[in-house]
Amino acid sequence: MDSNHEAVWHRLLSARVTRRGALRGAAAAGVATLLPLELRRAGASEPARPAGTAIQNRAPFRPIRPTTRDELVLPAGYRYDLLRAYGDDVAPGQPFGYNADFTAFFPIDVPDGGRSSQDGLLWVNHEYVNSMLAYGYREGRPKTPGDIAAERMAVGGTVMRVQRGQDGRWRYAADSRNRRITGSTPCRLTGPVAGSPGVGGAIQVIGTVGNCSGGVTPWGTVLSCEENVDEYGDPVTPGGFGLGWSEYTREHHGWVVEVDPFDPSFTPLKRTAMGRLRHENVAIRLAPNGLVVAYMGDDKRDSCVYKFISERAYDPGAPAANLQVLETGKLYAADFGTGRWVLLDYASEPRLRDATRPDGSRLFGGQADVLLDPRAAALLLGGTPVDRPEDIEIHPLTGHAYIALTNNNLHGNFHGQIVRLMEEANAADALAFQWDFFAVGGPQSGFSSPDNLLFDPYGNLWMVTDVTSSAAGDPQSIYGFQGNNSMFFFATEGSDAGKAVHFASGPVDCELTGPCWTPDGKTLFLSVQHPGEESESLTELSSHWPQQDGLSIPRPAVVAITGLPGWAPGRTFHGW
Ligand code: FEO
Ligand code: CA
Ligand code: CA
Ligand code: CA
Repeated sequence: MDSNHEAVWHRLLSARVTRRGALRGAAAAGVATLLPLELRRAGASEPARPAGTAIQNRAPFRPIRPTTRDELVLPAGYRYDLLRAYGDDVAPGQPFGYNADFTAFFPIDVPDGGRSSQDGLLWVNHEYVNSMLAYGYREGRPKTPGDIAAERMAVGGTVMRVQRGQDGRWRYAADSRNRRITGSTPCRLTGPVAGSPGVGGAIQVIGTVGNCSGGVTPWGTVLSCEENVDEYGDPVTPGGFGLGWSEYTREHHGWVVEVDPFDPSFTPLKRTAMGRLRHENVAIRLAPNGLVVAYMGDDKRDSCVYKFISERAYDPGAPAANLQVLETGKLYAADFGTGRWVLLDYASEPRLRDATRPDGSRLFGGQADVLLDPRAAALLLGGTPVDRPEDIEIHPLTGHAYIALTNNNLHGNFHGQIVRLMEEANAADALAFQWDFFAVGGPQSGFSSPDNLLFDPYGNLWMVTDVTSSAAGDPQSIYGFQGNNSMFFFATEGSDAGKAVHFASGPVDCELTGPCWTPDGKTLFLSVQHPGEESESLTELSSHWPQQDGLSIPRPAVVAITGLPGWAPGRTFHGW
């Protein structure tokens, strides 16, 4: 696997050089000239568009300058409303969790076929807890049962109603559907791993943790991705990552979790057929035959990009049946060296059946074991280890998958790239693909370390960055050119395609995460994760956001940004 990585890495480097020349040429000819010849011949780069709709591929704002201010800085004419911050009530006795991440807006009238952009249920992930800032924990001492209960309460997800008032401002609203899903909420494993020996025979499991980014399904559920989950069960050690949770089973976590936000009694369903990874995201695209294709990244250095193809088709007329679509299917890993999707299937792949550990024991006893460790299976079969694949999103006009490779300091890839993957014949369920670079991070492009991605209906890409908080905003670091972690806009067509335009800059030490739209595009929901994360102590705080009074402990929060012009009439955004 090392030689494979080396080969791909050299391809990355050479492509990076040729890309810079190609971009100059694209200024005159349009970015479609960068597409592989085969795809151009097949017409894959020329998506059908309704007659008379012009692509609007210019940023709808005047860019901000890089800044290290302890504020969510937005372009002139834009503002944000704070919806909830850590500790605020979501429902009685259920406070908003820590480290807000993925958001998904569900119009309140969706069950009746509506598309409200003024009123809805907002899903918010809560990825992890900063124990010191959240409840004053001092590193190293054993955690009490009360500490662990507080931490379990602070992760998972939130469902809450949000409304835009007559004054144009967004506010949280009480609602009987408001609820927290936490590290203590009963969940259910579904699919091939449920009840298998690898999970101790479990079907019912406790809690969801590490909820990083996610996705939404065509049938109106949210997919919340469990990313960094292994350390919860490790003992607390000074300077270590162990969280010291009692009664924690690693294999019960690390899954894609499906939730119906409109049903307060819904038991979160962990979709084991999609594999156990450091799941960052799910991006769904329908195949022509209705099969559901889900693109997923494993956010770990030298890890793979995956694709799940469901066994059953999505049926818009069968809401109950759609809740079973993600229970069964095939899991593939991307081989960027050959441009092929590699099937991870125990029954048909002798190399998986024959694989052994150093002690001679079998690595996999069946497909459930493959799904418990798809990383090992993928690397064994030629899946390409890449540089921290975080978010993946599907271009709404071309169907191409855009993949954020955040960075990988093991290989000197400090600023990351955005890769574009084009399926053969532009079919979501194809088993071969082409790829190229869309954008390359670094001082020359103004951004570093791409993480979450979001398209608008015109095919413009919006991206948030994840420079490690110990370096973000440090003018002495190699990341100083960007200021604090930020949000950028990229046209994907026209003369400015691939150029980063600076939209927002977050408070000190934060990461901006989980952007999503209202259907009319006039509101952008955004999470502000881990502000002040590098604080030495509660008396030496690096951020006071959102209070900004010079005293308050910083708190992660979710905001609603307005000032956007929205889409032209007739345009909408599905989010999948
Ligand atoms: Fe939770 Fe990979 O970001
Ligand atoms: Ca992330
Ligand atoms: Ca995304
Ligand atoms: Ca990240």
